[in-house]
Amino acid sequence: MNTSLNKNILIGITSSIAAYKIYELIRLYKKNGYNVKIVTTKNALNFVSPLVLETLSENKCFYNQFEPRDNVEHISLATWTDIFVIAPSSANTISKCAQGIADNLLTSVFCAYLGYKKPILFAPAMNTGMWENPIIQENILKLKKLNCDFVEPQNGFLACGTEGKGKLADVNLIYHQTLRNLHQNKNNNSKKIIVTMGGTKEKIDSVRYITNSSSGKMGTAIADWAYYFGFEVNAISTIELERNYKTTKVNSAIEMLNQLQNQDYDYLIMAAAVGDFKVQNESETKISKEEIEGDFCLKLTKNPDVVATIAKNKKENQKIIGFCLTDKDLINCAKNKLINKNLDYIIANDVKTALNTNQNKVTIIEKSGKIIDIDLDTKENIAKKILEVVCD
Ligand SMILES: Cc1cc2nc3c(=O)[nH]c(=O)nc-3n(C[C@H](O)[C@H](O)[C@H](O)COP(=O)(O)O)c2cc1C
Repeated sequence: MNTSLNKNILIGITSSIAAYKIYELIRLYKKNGYNVKIVTTKNALNFVSPLVLETLSENKCFYNQFEPRDNVEHISLATWTDIFVIAPSSANTISKCAQGIADNLLTSVFCAYLGYKKPILFAPAMNTGMWENPIIQENILKLKKLNCDFVEPQNGFLACGTEGKGKLADVNLIYHQTLRNLHQNKNNNSKKIIVTMGGTKEKIDSVRYITNSSSGKMGTAIADWAYYFGFEVNAISTIELERNYKTTKVNSAIEMLNQLQNQDYDYLIMAAAVGDFKVQNESETKISKEEIEGDFCLKLTKNPDVVATIAKNKKENQKIIGFCLTDKDLINCAKNKLINKNLDYIIANDVKTALNTNQNKVTIIEKSGKIIDIDLDTKENIAKKILEVVCD
C-alpha cells in the first residue's frame, strides 16, 4: 500500500514509559510509504534505543544538539518535515514547547517549526495526576490555540500501577490523526459524510444469524480517507471499529435503515453489503434441535431496499453513492441500479475481486453516464480515488 504521496514525518520522542510503543507507530508510517526521521530528548534514550529507531526509520536518530555536523539540524529537520508528531509527549516537553523553551534538540526543532505553520500533533502520555495538573492543562490549551492538534490520552491501567486518564492513545489512532493532519482540505471540515460498511446480520434466533462474506474493508478504507480529507465522518458499520471519527454499530438491514433515517449528510456512501432477505420466523430464544422434528426450515422475507428508501428523500445538494456487487453482467446491473434507485454514482465491483480481499478493481459510473475504470489496487488507494471523483 502506498498512500503517502511522498510525505515526510518527523517523530519527536520524549521520556515517557510509553515510548516503546512508538516502534510500532514508525512501522505503520513506513509500511504505508511515509518517510520518517526521529528526534528524541536525551532522557528518552532511557526508554528507547537509537539502534532500533534507526533500523525501523531507515534514517539517523537525532538527539545530540552539539555534535559536529554539516548543517544546523534543528532547522533542517523543521524544514524537511511535513508534520511534527511528538509522541509520546511528556508533561515536561509539552510545558517547554508552550513556553518557548528550546534547551534540547527536540524543543529547539519545535521552537523553529511552530513558525513554519505546518501541522503539529502531540500524543501525551503521563500519570493521571500530571495530566490533571492545571499548569499542564493550561499549557495544552495554549498550544491548541496555536493550532497544535492533540490525540487525547486514554483511560486505562497506567505503568505507575494506578488506573485513570493518561495512557498513550492507541498507535492506530495516532496514525489516523497524523494522516488527517497531512491530507486534509480545511474546506471539507464542515461537510458531512456517512459511510456504511460490512455485511448485515439477520437474526435466526438469540445466537444464530445469516450474513454474507463482506469484510467491510472497502467501506472502512473509504471512511478513513474521508476522515483524512477533512470531512466529518459517521461510519455506520456492522463491524467493530475504533476510530477518531464517529462510528455507529448496527447488525441488521433494518437497524442500518433506522440509523440512516433523518440523518443530515452531504455525501452518503453505501459500501455495506445489505442482506436482501431477513428471517420471517425469527425466534427470540435459542432454537434447540430437540424441539425440531425432521428438517428445520427458515422462511425468508425481503428486507427494505435501504439505499432506495433513503434516496427517495434526497435533497438537491446531497449526493448518494451506491455499490453494485455481482458476478454476472456487472456494468448493466450497476447502470440499472443507478437509475432505479435515484443515485448520483454507482461503484461496480466484481464478486471475485471485491469480497474479503485487500485489493479491488472498480468502475465508477456517474449519473451522466460517464464511466471511470480504476485498475486493481489496494482498497486504501481505491477508496482515495473514489472520493476524489465523487466529492468534487
Ligand atoms: C520510569 C519513568 C517513567 C516516566 N513516565 C513518564 C510519562 O509517562 N510521562 C511524563 O510526562 N513523564 C514521565 N516520566 C518523567 C519524565 O521522564 C521527566 O519529567 C523527564 O524530565 C522528562 O524529560 P523530557 O521531556 O526531556 O523527555 C517518567 C520517569 C520515569 C523515571
